[in-house]
Parts: sequence; structure tokens; C-alpha cells
Amino acid sequence: MCGIVGYVGPGSTLEVLLGGLKRLEYRGYDSAGISVIDSEAGLQTRKRAGKLSVLVDDLDQAPIKDAHIGIGHTRWATHGAPTDGNAHPHLGGEHLKLSLIHNGIIENFAELKAELISQGVKFQSETDSEVAAHLVAGEYLKSNDLSAAFRAVVKRLEGAFTLLCIHEDHPDLVLAARRNSPLVIGLGENENFLGSDVAAFVAHTKRAVSVGQDQIVELRQNSVLVTSFDGDPVELSEFKIDWDASAASKGGWPSFMAKEIADQPQAVGDTLMGRLASDGSVKLSEFAGIDALSQVDRITIVACGTAAYAGEVAKYAIEKWAKLPVSVELAHEFRYRDPIITENTLIIAISQSGETMDTLMATRYAKERGAKVLAICNTQGATLAREADATIYTHAGPEVAVASTKAFTAQITAGQLVALALASLRGSMPQAELNELGQELLKLPRAVKEVLDSVGRMKELGKELSDAKSILFLGRNVGYPIALEGALKLKELAYIHAEGFAAGELKHGPIALIEEGQPVIVIVPAKNTPGSLQPKVISNIQEIKARGAKVIAIAEAGDTEVANYADEVFFVPQTHPFMAAQLSVLPLQIFAMELATAKGLDVDQPRNLAKSVTVE
Ligand code: F6R
Repeated sequence: MCGIVGYVGPGSTLEVLLGGLKRLEYRGYDSAGISVIDSEAGLQTRKRAGKLSVLVDDLDQAPIKDAHIGIGHTRWATHGAPTDGNAHPHLGGEHLKLSLIHNGIIENFAELKAELISQGVKFQSETDSEVAAHLVAGEYLKSNDLSAAFRAVVKRLEGAFTLLCIHEDHPDLVLAARRNSPLVIGLGENENFLGSDVAAFVAHTKRAVSVGQDQIVELRQNSVLVTSFDGDPVELSEFKIDWDASAASKGGWPSFMAKEIADQPQAVGDTLMGRLASDGSVKLSEFAGIDALSQVDRITIVACGTAAYAGEVAKYAIEKWAKLPVSVELAHEFRYRDPIITENTLIIAISQSGETMDTLMATRYAKERGAKVLAICNTQGATLAREADATIYTHAGPEVAVASTKAFTAQITAGQLVALALASLRGSMPQAELNELGQELLKLPRAVKEVLDSVGRMKELGKELSDAKSILFLGRNVGYPIALEGALKLKELAYIHAEGFAAGELKHGPIALIEEGQPVIVIVPAKNTPGSLQPKVISNIQEIKARGAKVIAIAEAGDTEVANYADEVFFVPQTHPFMAAQLSVLPLQIFAMELATAKGLDVDQPRNLAKSVTVE
């Protein structure tokens, strides 16, 4: 939520800021704004409601003077509507020389605002953020020391914040602070950067440092000082960004979502790479970071949204192969109900961004109670990765479209690797059988590509059903979380009612929704596996067909029976029943994208959403 970029150096600040905001726009697109300081023109600020393109057009029509220091912001509105006035930066101080941007929520803003109003401060916006600008400006007036003023203010703020601040009297300094919100430094040659994540500056440098909790940064052209809120220096721990700016561009695709769907063979392959030997044996060197892993007696997966559905799929593999009890918890529910956590609990926190506040808070809660934490994360240097005992990175590359696609298939794949590695560690299955499963995983990237090469009919169906008012999804076993994910994709992209159900649950209520013409997408389990639920799902199809449903089935290649009952069948290649999850979700992603596109909607930036949910 909210993207932040800062720059100081000899290059074009406007180019760095607007380029950075373009790459961060997935974090929020309610408004955008920048401030730069030029030695002659002084502090210049421009901000506009709407997408970044509105600000860019505005700057084209009425340019401001380029400079060598500046800050930029793209907003996901929390306090105050998406208007020009509520857009960041917010200005403060004498002659409005101070400019500040904020990501997060300042929870004690109401009392701070009352205090400022009683001192005669006039507010220009309805945001919580503006208090920080006036507070720093007020402190600066007293001490004439910008760093000291900033330090004094951040200590007074409660909640979540990344703040960036510049002042016309200090045209060489960007101040930044973070608590519970992300902030990364980019180290350049004779120039330095700040960003909500590395996407902000990856076009300029691959050297990055992530800023820890409750730390302040003083960024200058040739120096970076990081301290605690109390001023104690902190050692920088640098990392190299392992993808380049082209990975975060559309590369000729009509949308980031289309590109990211197409990236999935590679995303799955890269997640497996270096972790599976050709004989199928798994090695997760990351496990070394977790003490007494063999003592673990239960696993709790915490995550939100799509990542939680990936957790639901992983649960089947961990329970079956590693023989450990697993519960999957929505992170925002987990810590508010006294969950049972012991030192033998392993928390697996799944998050594409590694910045989802609910997931971070759930993880911290469990860690404080002695649990070990394994993160499955896609973003290098993310807060979750810093705080976990060990991190399995999904090497899906940057995911820019708000709706998660390639991160999902990579998360499931990582979860299955974890299941195999745990099973091997615990000796819960013969190694030869585990190696066979590993070999099945190795075949996945090719199978994913095969599915993506044959989705023509799903595209047509998306267009044909673009007037549907409601679409239902049914699945069993790992097909159930895939049904939930299919419904979520459709809700968030196409803004139509969509629900996923466990097929067995149908006759306990949801079947009442079925009427003539109701589209239902059914994920049919593989037929020829021991204990297959395929016959039961075929019965479910018959039950809804009898009541008028239009059934589109996703089934395994070779299942000749399904076509006798469904109106349409889309086949995916044969694989292990758990790994069918990564295949059967693909036509659902395509279907949702095509349906939304046919309705004329922006699939990369659906309304009301932001990619990284950094507030609770
Ligand atoms: C849906 C979607 C969200 C995220 C959720 C968690 O398409 O993207 O449901 O999966 O907000 O985000 P991360 O994985 O960044 O923690």
C-alpha cells in the first residue's frame, strides 16, 4: 500500500522519481505526487488524484524544473478520499519549505492533530500523514536541526509508517524512517535511492540494503547513515538484487497479468532450481536456519488471500508425506484467538510481498511464543524474510499485476518442496518414493507450459460469459483451494459475484443457488489414482446439471467420462494429484483475465485494491 521513492544524486530526479513510481504503482493508484528541490526554484511539489499517468500528463503540460534531490509517492487511500488535496507529499513549516510522504497508518494522528490545531496549524488534507509534516516542521523551527527534529517526531508516532522528508534549507539530505512498513535503500555510484521495495530503483542499481524496524536513514549523495530511533548507528547489511528492470516490464504483453501468467513455467522451474537433484531428491539448505527442526510436532501456515490458498494446497502434501498435522490460518484471524503455539510449532508464513502486515503480525506473535518461523516469500530483502528463521524464496521474479498468478503457483511448488524435505528429514516415507515425487515436480514446468499453450477455449469462454452475474467454482481435495482461488480471481478482476465451494458441501446448502443457466466451473480430480474422488465429483456434476447449471469442467487428460456430463471440458496433463493444483489453476487465471478484459476492465490495477497490504 502506497509506493515511496526518494533520490539524491547528479541524475534527473524527475526521471528517477517518475520511473520509480511507475514500477511501484501496483502498491496503490489513487493519487501520485512528487517534490524536488532545485537551488533556484526551491521546493517544487506537484500532486494529482488518479493514476500516475494523470500526474505525468500534468507535468508534461506545466513542467517543473528538474533537480538533484526529491521524493515521490503513489497512494492507496486509507484516511481521506483520493483527491488532489489528500495526495502526498504534504507540506509544512515556514513558507511550506518541508515536504513529507508517508506509507502506513499513524494511529495516534487524531490526538496529534488536535494538539497542532490548538497551536494554530491549518490542515490542508484529511489524511493522518499530514500531522507528521507539521510536527517535523514545528520541531525544526525550535532546534534548526532537521535530523534531530525528525528523530523527535518519529518517536511520538504510533502505528505503521515509512516516512520520507526533505527540506528546502537542506538540499542535500533525504530523511527516512520506518516502523512496521517497508523501506529499502539503493546504493549507487555517487547517488543513492530509497524505495518501498527494490522495484523503485532496480533500473539504476542492483545494490540494496533493507532498513530494519524502528530505524532512521540519512541519505546523501555520497553517504548513507542508518541509526536506531535513538541515534545509535546500525551496520548496513547489503544484498544484491537478482532480477533486472526488464523483468518488471510488460515485455510486449498487453498487461502485466498476461505476462505473469505466461511466466509461470519459468517461475515454477526457478523455484525448483538448485533444490531438486535429477534423481528427485530434495535439498533445502534453508532448513539449516531452523533449530531442532526434527522436533517439530505441528505446523501452522499463516497467510492471506491467494497465499493462504497456496498454503491450503501445501497442507495436503505436508500431512501426507511428512506426516505432520497442519492447520492453515488466515493471518488476521490467527493472533486474535489464543492459538496453541509451542516451541515445537513450525510457522510457515507465505507471502509474495513479504510485507503483508497481517502475516507479519501473526508471525511475530507466534515467534514471541517460541515458535520457529519458515517464510515462503518472493521478494528479496522483505521484512518477513528478515524476521523469519529461514526463508525459501520463490524465484517467480517481480509480480506487478495486483492479482497474484505466478507467485501462487511458485508458492505451492515451494510448499511441496518443503513437504518433501520434511518427509526426508523425518524419515516419514521411503526415500525412493520421495524421489519419485521429486521427479514428478521436475516435470511441472513443462506441463505448465503445455497448459498455457492450449488455453484458447478458456479465453473464448471468458468472453462468452462476460455478462454473467455470478459464477460458481467447485473442487475437492486440492481442487477445493483452487476453486476458491478461481473465484477470488474473478471477484477481484471482473467485479462479479463468484464463490468457491468444496464440492461435497454442495448439498449442505449452496446447491440452492443453482438455477437454469448458472455457470459452474468444476475442478475434477484425477480418475486413476488410489481413492480418487473423481466419481463423487462426477455425481456432483450430475446433481447440478439436473438443476440447470452450465458446467465447465477442468479435468485430467484421458478422463473420457467427464465429457458425458459437463457442457465443456478443459483438459490438463496427467501429474501427481497434488501437483494438479498448479495446472488446474491456469485455465481459471486465463478465464478471469479474459472475462475482465471483455468487460473493458484494467486487469493490472483492479479497483479498490493494492498489491501489498501493509496496513492491518
Ligand atoms: C489476490 C492477491 C491477494 C494476496 C494477499 C497476500 O490475487 O494477490 O489475495 O495474495 O494480499 O499478499 P502477499 O502474498 O503479498 O502476502
